[in-house]
Amino acid sequence: MADYLIAPSILSADFARLGEEVDAVLKAGADVVHFDVMDNHFVPNLTIGPMVCKALRDYGITAPIDVHLMVDPVERMIDEFANAGASIITFHPEAATHIDRCLAQIRDHGCKAGLVFNPATPLHHLDYVMDKLDVILLMSVNPGFGGQKFIPATLDKLREARERIDRSGYDIRLEIDGGVKTDNIAEVAAAGADMFVAGSAIFNQPDYAKVIAAMRAELAQ
Ligand code: DX5
Ligand code: ZN
Repeated sequence: MADYLIAPSILSADFARLGEEVDAVLKAGADVVHFDVMDNHFVPNLTIGPMVCKALRDYGITAPIDVHLMVDPVERMIDEFANAGASIITFHPEAATHIDRCLAQIRDHGCKAGLVFNPATPLHHLDYVMDKLDVILLMSVNPGFGGQKFIPATLDKLREARERIDRSGYDIRLEIDGGVKTDNIAEVAAAGADMFVAGSAIFNQPDYAKVIAAMRAELAQ
């Protein structure tokens, strides 16, 4: 599969210069902007909301913005982020009473829809909604913070998710989020992922283009 997407998580960017940071990482070769929304309730941290998403659009960012909602409840935030310029909206099944309805709500706005699975959340929530998904996002750390270590059990889970996608015949991205670095991205791709979130691995380095090129070189092998 040649079609890999690299999605830097702006959680590790310099928020005081967010527009410039996003611009820089896109010029450095990133495909998608991963936008982590935390509410100090579903996860023990508080980040950014729809106003910041809109501000990035107003600043001139035209790349896809991948909004990862770590909020409970999700319904109202779906509308807010769709109106603020989100391209992809993903949420955790634990945070939505009506998963099917929320997925439809996202697509009704013209956005791509996805479900996110915490490390210990089983994949059975996929059973009756494969036709409503554009993205399946597997967390390879417990959500809330950047810079954590990749949980190895996620590799088996990726293989299981890849099998489900292939069996379904739908065009669904398999995204991985947490602890992805140059030295494990090839292994993660071999397990089935085709969209890679990386926060600290990119933003904690001075040369974003160099890291992204190194990741693509690993993926090309
Ligand atoms: C964690 C977030 C991730 C995080 C990844 O809750 O969902 O997107 O920023 O950061 P790294 O790549 O540093 O693990
Ligand atoms: Zn994320």
